[in-house]
Amino acid sequence: MSKQMPIAAPHTWGKYTPDKIFTVVSKATQAKEAYGREVVVNGAPGTFLDETETIYCLPTVESVYRSIPMNEVVAYSPLEGAPDFLEAAVQHVFREFRPAAHIKAVATPGGTGALHNIVANYTSVGDAVLSSEWCWGPYKSIAEDALRKFETFSLFAGDRFNLEELEEKMTALLAKQERLVVILNTPSHNPTGYSMTNDEWKAVLNSAKRLAAPGRFIILAIDVAYLDYTEDQSASRSFFPLLADLPENVLPIICFSMSKSFTLYGQRVGAMIGVSPNAQIADEFFETNQITCRASWSSINRGASKVLATIYANPELIKQCDEERAAALNIIKSRAALFSSEAKAAGLEFLPYRSGFFLTIPCQKPEEVCQVLNKANVFLVPLAKGIRISVCAVPTSKMSGLAVKIKKAIERVTVQGNQ
Ligand SMILES: Cc1ncc(COP(=O)(O)O)c(C=O)c1O
Repeated sequence: MSKQMPIAAPHTWGKYTPDKIFTVVSKATQAKEAYGREVVVNGAPGTFLDETETIYCLPTVESVYRSIPMNEVVAYSPLEGAPDFLEAAVQHVFREFRPAAHIKAVATPGGTGALHNIVANYTSVGDAVLSSEWCWGPYKSIAEDALRKFETFSLFAGDRFNLEELEEKMTALLAKQERLVVILNTPSHNPTGYSMTNDEWKAVLNSAKRLAAPGRFIILAIDVAYLDYTEDQSASRSFFPLLADLPENVLPIICFSMSKSFTLYGQRVGAMIGVSPNAQIADEFFETNQITCRASWSSINRGASKVLATIYANPELIKQCDEERAAALNIIKSRAALFSSEAKAAGLEFLPYRSGFFLTIPCQKPEEVCQVLNKANVFLVPLAKGIRISVCAVPTSKMSGLAVKIKKAIERVTVQGNQ
């Protein structure tokens, strides 16, 4: 039979690749059905699972959600988001570290929606978007789906942020294009768990100031999906005031998500928050991004956005959420500590982890290593140059011994490769 001519337009040809994370999760689910859930390690999800491997919702979020009147749940949200939600999002993100600048927010379906709008509105077709080589896979898909290119700098120089290479890549791209979107995911970076220090932030912002020549625009997309999963909530927000001290042609946009911070992953609520010294640029941000919302998904989930507005109207509810999240974070921390100590004892290298949902092991042939692990009912996400483990999802009981299994699988693949 002759091959069917694609009906989809030529620019879409070849763009499909199965989503790695969802594929691994589905393999793990099949293994659980076949062999029993006790013997399967599912280290792929991007959601916090408690020690019984059940997805966890902050109890305060659940009770507030259940209290939202039905007419509020089913109604449309304003395109830009309800004012009480937007103010709550800004308050939550900055807390006591609100930059002294013009700040505008637009509601988006999660951090993904914010990234979509940034690429759509702050780059032209054919431009490249820049992020780190270790990064959340959808950055590339979002850029390429919008007919942009995706380029990377290597995230680390030793166990520190690679400022030199970031600046080199920014310089090269700004020689070719007027606008450059740089996506930085910090704190608790996915997939490594790295968090930029304030000194590293100062250096990045100094580079941006130096490189933002007249007629050149730098847009810093600051993806804070894991903002609330760090050791010290204040320290992780303390870089925000630095964003006030930038020239007009550098625009930081914070991508806020309720997915992890309020355990409302599938409810699709977030916001993009623009920070500018110039009121007109802030207004342009507010207007332009609203139109892209209208043209892409219309408006966001009103009921879930009301949850945040309700929590932020009551300091007691904010405190309760913080305490409940801190308890979840403690579980994640102890899983990560157990893995780290066993990895060190086994001589298994992992990338600099500070906090958050994921840890990464750099290795050769990650696909093959993951296949070897699958045979032992261990399901992890193969990346281009390593393997990601969801410390948010693997219970402590199954974390024990995992580092040794990975080490052995890597050795086995290395030996096979040498034969
Ligand atoms: C690094 C990173 N950024 C952004 C997101 C976006 O999440 P959402 O669109 O659910 O807010 C995720 C989700 O996994 C993520 O890992």
